[in-house]
Amino acid sequence: MLTGGGDCPGLNAVIRAVGRRVMVRGHEFVGIREGWRGLVDGLFEPLGPREISGLLPRGGTIIGTTRTNPFKLEGGVDRVLDNFRSAGLDALVAIGGEDTLGVAARLHAEDSFPVVGVPKTIDNDLSATDYTFGFDTAVWVATEAIDRLHTTAESHNRVMVVEVMGRHTGWIAVMSGIAGGADVILIPEQPISIDEACDDIRRRHERGKDFSIVVISEGYELEGVADAGELDQFGHVRLSERGVGAALAHEIERRTGFETRVTVLGHVQRGGTPTAFDRVLATRFGVHAADMVSRGEFGKMASLRGTQIVSVPLTEATANLKTVDPALYSVAEVFFG
Ligand code: F6P
Repeated sequence: MLTGGGDCPGLNAVIRAVGRRVMVRGHEFVGIREGWRGLVDGLFEPLGPREISGLLPRGGTIIGTTRTNPFKLEGGVDRVLDNFRSAGLDALVAIGGEDTLGVAARLHAEDSFPVVGVPKTIDNDLSATDYTFGFDTAVWVATEAIDRLHTTAESHNRVMVVEVMGRHTGWIAVMSGIAGGADVILIPEQPISIDEACDDIRRRHERGKDFSIVVISEGYELEGVADAGELDQFGHVRLSERGVGAALAHEIERRTGFETRVTVLGHVQRGGTPTAFDRVLATRFGVHAADMVSRGEFGKMASLRGTQIVSVPLTEATANLKTVDPALYSVAEVFFG
């Protein structure tokens, strides 16, 4: 089993669930360290009952993770296949988002690699599953932060801009914004101008509300803010470096004259213990993934559809990004201004 890409709460709960399910069936269970890098470099760690005990509430991943892409390394894919074969492994459970599972899908399509996927990401942007685990925890962390910012915003009559993660989609922003009662939410899928955001804030002031909470997704295309910095092996820039929250706060203060502060939540959203929802989802995904291995259902991913866990092709899961439903954003808009 390997965990790839950004970590998130619930990874260890999946490791525990897969381990418990396969060990009672008499299988050996091996952790591959540091995502796909572990298969490129042969970094294996046998996992027994002791290693997987106590993992349910523990954040992060006990087997480590990286953003390594074997398709971008000279001889990377051959090394993955050789190391897998020479370690005597029969199946791989890969836990990841679009990048990690994209590698899994390609290895399965091109080399019949025996891999099963489990969808994780705080961004909740994987298609073919209603939710990824880790997302609920991130939304809860952001909601709690917004609640806290409310009281200090109100005390000082300030505008508080909160920048949340989410890369190309606004799932965390819109869900935490609704849950925390944000007055304006800016997400990549529903661009508005800075002037429109300022108008919402002015309208609030006219109603006698001297403070406002503005939530912005890190990947928002704000006028005048450009991408900078190096790309990772999957072609992503580091979005926190763009400073979209700070740029918006600056513009709001300049255009409205209202004192404005910015809070960038960053990796706090990915750390710590998973919520009960994420623990249960991660556990259900893990048990299902172990059963998929037993059935030889390779090239597929465990997925939540409604209330059921089902198997879907990895190609379907990684084909498109799942963007925020406009109907959800229009619920949030009812409370703007
Ligand atoms: O994909 C998960 C995520 O947390 C994004 O929301 C964010 O843009 C990115 O990872 C941050 O990556 P890193 O941990 O490499 O800074």
